[in-house]
Amino acid sequence: MSSVETLLHVGDAARGKLWAEQLPTLVPDLSVRQWPDIGDPADIRYLAAWTLPPGLIDTLPGLRFAMSIGAGVDQLDVATIPPNLPLLRMTEGTLVDGMVEYVTMAVLMLHRDMPHYLAEQRAGLWSPRRHVAAADRHVGVMGMGMLGGAVLERLAGFGFALSGWSRSPKDMPGVHCHAGMAALPAFLAGLDILICLLPLTPETRGLLAAPVFRTLPAGAALINAGRGGHLIASDLLAALDSGHLSAAILDVTDPEPLPADHPFWHHRRVLLTPHVASRTDPASAARFVAEAIFSDRAGLPLPGRVDRSAGY
Ligand code: NAP
Ligand code: GLV
Repeated sequence: MSSVETLLHVGDAARGKLWAEQLPTLVPDLSVRQWPDIGDPADIRYLAAWTLPPGLIDTLPGLRFAMSIGAGVDQLDVATIPPNLPLLRMTEGTLVDGMVEYVTMAVLMLHRDMPHYLAEQRAGLWSPRRHVAAADRHVGVMGMGMLGGAVLERLAGFGFALSGWSRSPKDMPGVHCHAGMAALPAFLAGLDILICLLPLTPETRGLLAAPVFRTLPAGAALINAGRGGHLIASDLLAALDSGHLSAAILDVTDPEPLPADHPFWHHRRVLLTPHVASRTDPASAARFVAEAIFSDRAGLPLPGRVDRSAGY
């Protein structure tokens, strides 16, 4: 019986259709199937998904790697993926460009007091605030990886004072770098705008909570474009309602979407977007998948490989 090397796509049918057309032109002899139409499970070599149907991986004996179709992998429930199966994440450039755009927009909105002016407009009020120069705004990014690093590079062009926080020490020109949990208070202490671009791991889950908010100076604002699980919503609401934090721009929530009665929907100091900060472009993602398959076939290091011990 002949076997056809197959990529199984789990997720958006439009992307699956595009990949079924494009990938075989990029990777000779590859077939693409859309979950749940998996054909012979023994043919599936590659799996690309946003979330995984429980138990699916265990039914695929010939799998060479599993890939997240996003930059993050937490939503795949990483603990259910066999430790020896390579796990990849999408690291193609359109994801980075989208995040840089979104965070730049959010920082500029906060820097120029837009949450305040939007609320004033709705109330029919005309009340200009004192202008603050970018050099006098201190912006800090939690997570200095593919996305956080690119965001810091772009924000430098506006002249903001910049800090970054990561797990391992970094050296980035023009950025005051902090590493490790012990350095978190020093990182937070002088910030006007805190941006979360961390992966969701056991260490980072629930990190955006009262102790972090208390350490930020009065009037600071938050941008969360990491994961909803980073944030303790009740602690943010308390910090906003007390006036200690001035505003929050949230692209991610837990759950997504929020229930209709969640206070974030109508809070005057909260701006919500529906997890759209950055999305993979299906065509460039197809090229990334093709590169991963070529690397696998050639026995080369796989792109976007997740460090299973770190969880990201
Ligand atoms: P990445 O390249 O893996 O970078 C992660 C950064 O976080 C690294 O600098 C890492 O430190 C740091 N970090 C991890 N654990 C930490 C800890 N316990 N303490 C301090 N720093 C820690 O990830 P990325 O590609 O930039 O993506 C980050 C996250 O953004 C994704 O995991 C995903 O959740 C989110 N995301 C959201 C959207 C959206 O549309 N909202 C889109 C894409 C991605 P080291 O450098 O020392 O390893
Ligand atoms: C989106 O949230 C991603 O992880 O790419």
